[in-house]
Amino acid sequence: MDRVAGAGLDGRVALVTGGSQGIGAAVVQIFVQAGASVVSADISAATEHRESVTDVECDVSDRASVVDAMNVIRREFGRLDVLVNNAGIQRVGPTAVMPVDVWDAVIGVDLSGVFHCTSAAIPLLRESDAAAIVTVSSVAAYQGLPGRAPYSAAKAGVLGLTRSLAVELAFDQIRVNAVAPGFTLSALSTSGYEAQGIVGQAPPSDQWMLQRIPLGRIAEPREIAQTVYFLASPAASYVTGQCLVVDGGWSVQGVLGRPDWL
Ligand code: NAI
Repeated sequence: MDRVAGAGLDGRVALVTGGSQGIGAAVVQIFVQAGASVVSADISAATEHRESVTDVECDVSDRASVVDAMNVIRREFGRLDVLVNNAGIQRVGPTAVMPVDVWDAVIGVDLSGVFHCTSAAIPLLRESDAAAIVTVSSVAAYQGLPGRAPYSAAKAGVLGLTRSLAVELAFDQIRVNAVAPGFTLSALSTSGYEAQGIVGQAPPSDQWMLQRIPLGRIAEPREIAQTVYFLASPAASYVTGQCLVVDGGWSVQGVLGRPDWL
């Protein structure tokens, strides 16, 4: 794999949760190009071998599984410099009939998973001289999306976690930030409907999404990963407690579509 000359993560060790596919896999790739050794912690392993990547089977919603992963990192690398809380799931359905286990599953992975991984990583991160945590939130933390109560609550929750941890961990010089992607091409953006038997009308079509994105296209996972990399790298050495929205302008548009006179 091509290395970026003089890249910002040379000799660093990074843990990326949910690094087997989608946005996480793109983060893993950029980090390796930037010189890092990367541990990808995922419930399902990546389908192909990746240079400088160690795959660890881990369920972020299970504290014991997270602690096991952290022990592997301590044993194999003896250090951790960057944690990317990326693993996430989405389930869609009307709140009035949403089974409690659906709520618990989404909160368990998307919010408690961030707590478990961060909490367990802090002792190792404290030993680094350039530690950073980046959590993948979502525009669903800011905008109301019907049928996504647990997902929106979890993604807004990680922003609260990000701000609290940024202040708490600043005393250890550990930076904590978040990225909030808009629609991104991956398995997740069209997933979660089947679980509640919503058939025939969802997921939203590409056309529906495109009409609502000022830049006129859905993000590639690499475009989200580049922002994660920025926040994890020394280029963001004075940035902490922030969330960078990466959504092609979706969340700031006041008027839908292009006016005739423009
Ligand atoms: P994806 O479904 O392609 O990848 C998610 C990865 O997380 C998979 O490799 C999966 O095996 C892993 N994972 C799921 N549950 C896990 C668990 N309990 N423990 C460990 N790993 C687990 O999804 P995508 O799109 O790459 O999502 C990455 C993050 O980006 C998620 O947090 C998601 O909520 C967020 N996001 C995605 C958007 C999109 O449009 N794709 C938009 C906004 C946020």
